[in-house]
Amino acid sequence: MTFTVAIDGPAAAGKGTISKAVAAHFGFAHLDTGLLYRAVGAKVLAGGAPADMALALDPVDLEDDSLRTPAVAQAASEVAVIPAVRSLLVDFQRKFAARAEGAVLDGRDIGTVICPDAQVKMFVTASAECRADRRYKELTGKGMDVTPEGVLADVKERDDRDRNRATAPLLPADDAVLLDTSDLTIEAAIARAVAIVETAKNAVG
Ligand code: DC
Repeated sequence: MTFTVAIDGPAAAGKGTISKAVAAHFGFAHLDTGLLYRAVGAKVLAGGAPADMALALDPVDLEDDSLRTPAVAQAASEVAVIPAVRSLLVDFQRKFAARAEGAVLDGRDIGTVICPDAQVKMFVTASAECRADRRYKELTGKGMDVTPEGVLADVKERDDRDRNRATAPLLPADDAVLLDTSDLTIEAAIARAVAIVETAKNAVG
């Protein structure tokens, strides 16, 4: 039987770090599904048509460091509104979720649309200010020329678009455990997430 952990939440809430740590702890495979939309967004910025780019997506496209820029993040959020783009990416995500060793997928619609039967669903949040502050430190740490106000505006714009789109909007699944990381250290957030997964694993047997 497969074991799938679905971790959703808004930009920079900590879900990437938590997902990686949970996957490493349990020996599960990890897929950052935001990279799929970022890779499509990057190809659209380079002149491609969104659905064609989603259809032609290759897993090696996900390994590009330039996918982490704010411009690509915005482009990802824009292509993510297009239903044809979303549906072209479903199969790849579901196949990944069925990996024999277990899988952690993080994104916006994993618990609601991609893996509604996941054994564990978490919704990781934090205040917009807190998330923008973390993202600002991450981007300046990589030498990017950004301002705190610009990063906060980007985070809010992306949140708004991701939450209000018609297809697969960002929202917690009814049975998701909420994890607010605003006042948690990353270690504490990871410890909570690991404990949530441990409990679910024990229940499955
Ligand atoms: O997680 P991220 O910041 O890398 O995601 C970039 C964008 O991709 C995000 O603003 C919305 C979109 N996305 C999505 O619509 N569904 C997902 N499962 C993951 C990301």
